[in-house]
Amino acid sequence: MTINQVMVIGAGQMGAGIAQVFAQAGLNVKMNDMSQDALDQGLAGIEKRLKRSVEKGKMTEEDQKATYGRLQTTTDLKDASDCDLVVEAVVENMDVKVSVFQQLDEITPSHAILATNTSSLPITEIAAATKRPEQVIGMHFMNPVPVMKLVEIIRAIQTSDETYQAIEDMTKKLEKTPVEVEDFPGFVSNRILMPMINEAIYTVHEGVASPEDVDAVMKLGMNHPMGPLTLADFIGLDTCLYIMEVLHEGFGDSKYRPCPLLRKYVKAGWLGKKSGRGFYTYD
Ligand code: CAA
Ligand code: NAD
Repeated sequence: MTINQVMVIGAGQMGAGIAQVFAQAGLNVKMNDMSQDALDQGLAGIEKRLKRSVEKGKMTEEDQKATYGRLQTTTDLKDASDCDLVVEAVVENMDVKVSVFQQLDEITPSHAILATNTSSLPITEIAAATKRPEQVIGMHFMNPVPVMKLVEIIRAIQTSDETYQAIEDMTKKLEKTPVEVEDFPGFVSNRILMPMINEAIYTVHEGVASPEDVDAVMKLGMNHPMGPLTLADFIGLDTCLYIMEVLHEGFGDSKYRPCPLLRKYVKAGWLGKKSGRGFYTYD
């Protein structure tokens, strides 16, 4: 199938990056968010990153203008009526995602593929909420999207081979590497990453070491590019907590219980970099 027009729903840190890589690959992209502020900020972030690429000699000014020109913004979901592919990147909450998918099912053309960037929620359940479950799939980008090479592609039990193939081909067109995984809580990436982050938070909670020292151990001792607490702030502590809850509930195993300190920070509104405070503070 031919994919020309894409909509990305949610213009937060993931949605804006996803919209950027689609536009860079030559696709027309509509960015949707219920908040005009989020759209303005998302678009401004893309413009800044594209300009930096030109300054660094990684992109011509002509390409930058053409890429920027392929992006539109809208707060109206009905604008998905001419889209061949929609990638949803709203908050990690099943009720919100199901509501978005049910609306998309009514609005988009019957051939359209509906993909979700969920970090951990069951794709099978999201697919079952629509009348086209065979055209629903997980397309899980990594943060920061313009930099990270991986896209985890998650098949719902209902996903057709044709849908899978279209998304694998699209991932390659975006110059990313697809890895196919089954639909289990946290898939592969977050089943492994998030318990490490949660354990790092327990280490602070139990007074074993400060956030700075935990991060230093993992950066200098294990060569991780970011320490786990810096990474947790970068991902968003709310997103980390949602993912731990999905793992805990999905596997029914106490080894996935979210650290009480993580819960406390989220309750305080300390969500990491995006809110200005998490394990560290940000300007
Ligand atoms: N958005 C876009 N580009 C960014 C960026 C951002 N937020 N942050 C950095 N970059 C770009 C820079 O512009 C730079 O690009 P060039 O090479 O073209 O100059 C490049 O990344 C390297 O940046 P820096 O030199 O400033 O910094 P760095 O070398 O420390 O790298 C990093 C930054 C790539 C973010 C690195 O620290 C890293 O890899 N961190 C780990 C990221 C990670 O683990 N991501 C996965 C999170 S989990 C996930 O996404 C799944 C989930 O469901 C939660
Ligand atoms: P974010 O909080 O930065 O952005 C979410 C955006 O969605 C906000 O701008 C919000 O206004 C918008 N939104 C919420 N409900 C909406 C609706 N009904 N319609 C339209 N817009 C709506 O979140 P994020 O970090 O970009 O995460 C988005 C998704 O991507 C989540 O499912 C998350 O699990 C997943 N994800 C996150 C990361 C990460 O590192 N943060 C990595 C991979 C995947």
